[in-house]
Amino acid sequence: SEKIKKDYEKTSNEISTSLVIGNGVMGKGIIWLLSKYLKQTRIKLRNLDKAQNIIGDVAKLYDYFLKSRKMTQAQVDLKLSSLSYTQNFDGLKNIDLAIEAIVENKEQKEELLKKLESCMKDDAIIASNTSSISIEELSKNLQRKENFMGIHFFNPVNKMPLVEIIPNSKTSKKSINTVKQSLIKMGKMPIVVGDCAGFLVNRILLPYLNEAAFILEEGSNITTIDKVLKDFGMPMGPFTLADNVGIDIGYHVSKILNESYGQRMPISNVLIKIYEQKLFGKKSKKGFYDYTNNNTIENK
Ligand code: NAI
Repeated sequence: SEKIKKDYEKTSNEISTSLVIGNGVMGKGIIWLLSKYLKQTRIKLRNLDKAQNIIGDVAKLYDYFLKSRKMTQAQVDLKLSSLSYTQNFDGLKNIDLAIEAIVENKEQKEELLKKLESCMKDDAIIASNTSSISIEELSKNLQRKENFMGIHFFNPVNKMPLVEIIPNSKTSKKSINTVKQSLIKMGKMPIVVGDCAGFLVNRILLPYLNEAAFILEEGSNITTIDKVLKDFGMPMGPFTLADNVGIDIGYHVSKILNESYGQRMPISNVLIKIYEQKLFGKKSKKGFYDYTNNNTIENK
């Protein structure tokens, strides 16, 4: 086992410090995960005023551990105290892993990744949580492509075990192994997937959600389809799932899949319609369901 350990050390590094950029739905989930398992997590903010809100939201993700007595308040406080903040990309020299989860915009991500590369140590791993931008494209202007990859978490990060790792054509085996081993230690199930539109999960999930919407267009109804798929064994029906993911996200990813795979992956008119009406699902209180009165919004 000593030999296995030595071989392992040759092919991967230990990650103990991290940086997260972007503090939306995904950023906060990622901050929580890293705070739980790593020694230190730094958060890059555009405005330090937001720090207290973020710490409050991250603290909420520890509630389950407190309630189930898996952690004490003192242990949670210790985890939260491992978080630090920067507005100006300072204090990044000892960081092992940076994950960006800023807005899904190629130019903004490219600019940020370049900046990170200039502020971090040579062997730091830099990753993007993008759900649709090509990792090869994002790597184009980087000097150390071998340390760059996609690490695609799913929403909500604290509950979803699967994580997709997307290498670019130059990503080193060592970087991939390092990330893989770290994610396993964090209780996640990493899989390495190809750099294509939708990666793996969304290529399967979005046609499924769109197909449910096509059946709705053909005259079925939301609650029946949801019930059938639940009875089949899915943890929730497709419309409940779409509302949880966010109709805006579902629409954007469907659009990218349609552009990439053509007629194989059409977008349903119902999805387009409710997206245009800004019914974004749970986060806007209305999507396929109306959460203000526990009803559905049917396509009539
Ligand atoms: P969000 O809109 O909730 O959060 C984006 C955050 O980034 C905001 O807090 C915003 O203030 C910040 N931000 C924007 N531009 C910035 C910049 N230039 N520098 C620093 N911070 C900046 O978005 P969400 O849903 O958290 O998505 C973030 C990333 O994760 C996107 O790339 C998205 O495609 C990806 N993703 C989203 C999933 C989801 O289900 N929402 C699932 C998997 C990946």
